[in-house]
Amino acid sequence: MHIRLIHHGEVDSTSERAFAEIAAGEARHGDVHIAVSQTAGRGRLGRRWSSPPGEGLYLSLVLLPAPPPWSAAALTIAAGLSVFESASRLGVARARLKWPNDLVVGPMTEDAKLAGVLVETRGFDPEKPHYVVGIGFNVRQTSFPAELLAERPVASLATLGLDVSLERTREEVLDALQRAVARIPMGDDRLAEDFLCATGLAGKNVRVRIGDVEHEGVLEGISAIEGVRIRGRDASARSFPLEIVRRLSPSL
Ligand code: BTN
Repeated sequence: MHIRLIHHGEVDSTSERAFAEIAAGEARHGDVHIAVSQTAGRGRLGRRWSSPPGEGLYLSLVLLPAPPPWSAAALTIAAGLSVFESASRLGVARARLKWPNDLVVGPMTEDAKLAGVLVETRGFDPEKPHYVVGIGFNVRQTSFPAELLAERPVASLATLGLDVSLERTREEVLDALQRAVARIPMGDDRLAEDFLCATGLAGKNVRVRIGDVEHEGVLEGISAIEGVRIRGRDASARSFPLEIVRRLSPSL
């Protein structure tokens, strides 16, 4: 995949810019929209992604066409792994991935969000399937808006004591993203295994939230095809497709 960087100043959302180019027929596979700031940066479930100028990395990768085995679940795994891997290359000692879209640091009980991933598709054309992979990474923030902190703890590389530039973060994230996305068509199960490792939950007691119901068991596996596999107290194995898993958390 050849990356074409498209730089923006202030935009509504880099993912919105990516969809606009797709709609105009001007997008290419491997386009990366990157912005200095976003006025309508969005996260999962309609949440806002705080995007002040020059403090965070805000980028969206266009995959077009992206036929199976590429899928939203496989891309969420690949993009998650790439932020995990780049964080560790940038010096973050103990980050974890939290399905579906969080890179967090700190104790399991009050983990702070360092980066997030949002995979989207629109008007899915079976002849030319496409995805936009949005990544937000907190890099130089030393403080965060009160309304964000009211929702959950948040971290940046700077609050973790790491003095890293946006350019270096961008290079690491894009390198890792290219490598991880290239592994998807190889049907590489190790991508899923690496993701499982990065959650820190392999073999642990977990809760899997489907709709409003929580299922408990020991986490045995995660894969884009089989989903989340747990073994319950009665020793029976159950699998849940990733698309319907709303939360995967340790059973404390
Ligand atoms: C989440 O954790 O809920 C996902 C956050 C994704 C934020 C990024 S920032 C770049 C791209 N543009 C957006 O509007 N959102 C994603």
